[in-house]
Amino acid sequence: DMPDEVTIWEVGPRDGLQNESEVVPPAVKLEFLNRLADAGLPVVETTSFVHPKWVPQLADAAEVLDGLSRVDGVRYPVLVPNERGLDRALASGVHDVAIFASATETFTRRNLNRGLDEQFAMFDPVVRRAVTEGLNVRGYVSMVFGDPWEGPVAVDQVVSVGKRLLDMGCGQLSLGDTIGVATPGHVETVIRAFVAAGVPLHRLAVHFHDTYGQALSNTCAALRLGVSTVDASAGGLGGCPYAGSATGNLATEDLVWMLDGLGIRHGVDLRALVDTSVWMAGQLGRPSPSAVVKALAR
Ligand code: HMG
Ligand code: MG
Repeated sequence: DMPDEVTIWEVGPRDGLQNESEVVPPAVKLEFLNRLADAGLPVVETTSFVHPKWVPQLADAAEVLDGLSRVDGVRYPVLVPNERGLDRALASGVHDVAIFASATETFTRRNLNRGLDEQFAMFDPVVRRAVTEGLNVRGYVSMVFGDPWEGPVAVDQVVSVGKRLLDMGCGQLSLGDTIGVATPGHVETVIRAFVAAGVPLHRLAVHFHDTYGQALSNTCAALRLGVSTVDASAGGLGGCPYAGSATGNLATEDLVWMLDGLGIRHGVDLRALVDTSVWMAGQLGRPSPSAVVKALAR
């Protein structure tokens, strides 16, 4: 059954910007974050405390959090790969963190400089300490639907990685189609496999990239099964610098348009969101790829 209400997990400032080669000034990031929160997005993933050499675009994470005027009721999660990242996040006063695992050996090496099994040893103390500190912890799984180097990824392997993150203490799992190769039937198979493994639907989120134009259809498949947290990026910004074939995320505007049509509550002001994406596209010097932004831009 479709949910009555969906939580949109906005990832534009993190997943969107991390792939931009030109460094965006902190003041522009802050305006972007503030406009997204003002548009009614309940969760705005803000930045990453990763190694600054790996993602130079987000090297200003502490400065951005320091300048943020937090809107009441809005959550501002950040990515942390390891204990050093968690230390930095705690020093910046965050309440929500996300670790990011991979379902495949090759991507774990390329993204985290570790093997598939070694990644858990890195995350375990992070999750443990974050939970003790009272933070909400999300666990991403990347390459859930396919890997650019390994090809197809076994559903069992995906479920096993996801279960390990939940057992570690992650409150929610976000299933990442990092390179956008998923199709709706595959989405259904993966979600059903998690449910069969005893994972309740409210602990699952979906994270689709739109490389092959399937992100919205895939989201609809997940909603039909009862998933109610959906990741999206304003204007469809995005990609992953360590996965060459990854392009932007599902555009938040496209998601909002579909949710409106389905009568599913989300709390976002579409007009304010489109204006924000048009403004951001101007900052980046490139139009938004979102069909809904194009249709509604004035
Ligand atoms: P490493 O080189 O193996 O790190 O990188 P290390 O633990 O060996 O440490 C080496 C040095 O780095 C040390 O300094 C550490 O202090 C420092 P030294 O002692 O040599 O002076 N260091 C750090 N400095 C600042 N912040 C830190 C940090 N950690 C270590 N957090 C590491 C391992 C995980 C750090 C690195 O691989 C990394 O930063 N990776 C991040 C890659 C990334 O951000 N990828 C994009 C996000 S994932 C994604 O986009 C997918 C997603 O959207 C879902 C989907 O679409 O599927 C989430
Ligand atoms: Mg992503």
